[in-house]
Amino acid sequence: MLNADAQDFVISPELAAKIDDVLEKHDHDFTQIVGVLLDTQDLIENNYIPETVAFYIAQKLPIPVSVIYDCLTFYSALSIRPRAKHPIQVCRSIVCHINDSDKTYEYLKELLGIDFGETTYDGRFTLEAVPCFGACDVAPAVRIDGVVYGHLDTKEKIAEVLRQFT
Ligand code: FES
Repeated sequence: MLNADAQDFVISPELAAKIDDVLEKHDHDFTQIVGVLLDTQDLIENNYIPETVAFYIAQKLPIPVSVIYDCLTFYSALSIRPRAKHPIQVCRSIVCHINDSDKTYEYLKELLGIDFGETTYDGRFTLEAVPCFGACDVAPAVRIDGVVYGHLDTKEKIAEVLRQFT
């Protein structure tokens, strides 16, 4: 289920304190678990929730760790695997599709030199195919670091967005 990196991850005292702050910010409210996980993920290099962190949060709330894994596997903005510094999530749902999103995907693959599920050589970008993330009104859309970029129907527009992250 998890790769070696995720299993070997050690929570430093500094990270534990920051996760405690996140839990405090969310009032130790288990109904805010998605927000807790998103905020925690932002604290961790490679944008993911390692197994040790999932168990730490489960113990602190407290809730069954299975609830945390339900969230981690359901929400595309969360990951149990290390990712690039800037995961690029590409919507593969119908509205984006009918707005010619196939071209957007091809441009992205060409500009980054990678395919879906791959990471650029410098570790900056991962390309992920995900279901609709609610930005249908600006389709075709991608989401980078949680921010939506819409109307990406030309190579120039995509290149301009990517330049912000270099
Ligand atoms: S169909 Fe692409 S964001 Fe909704």
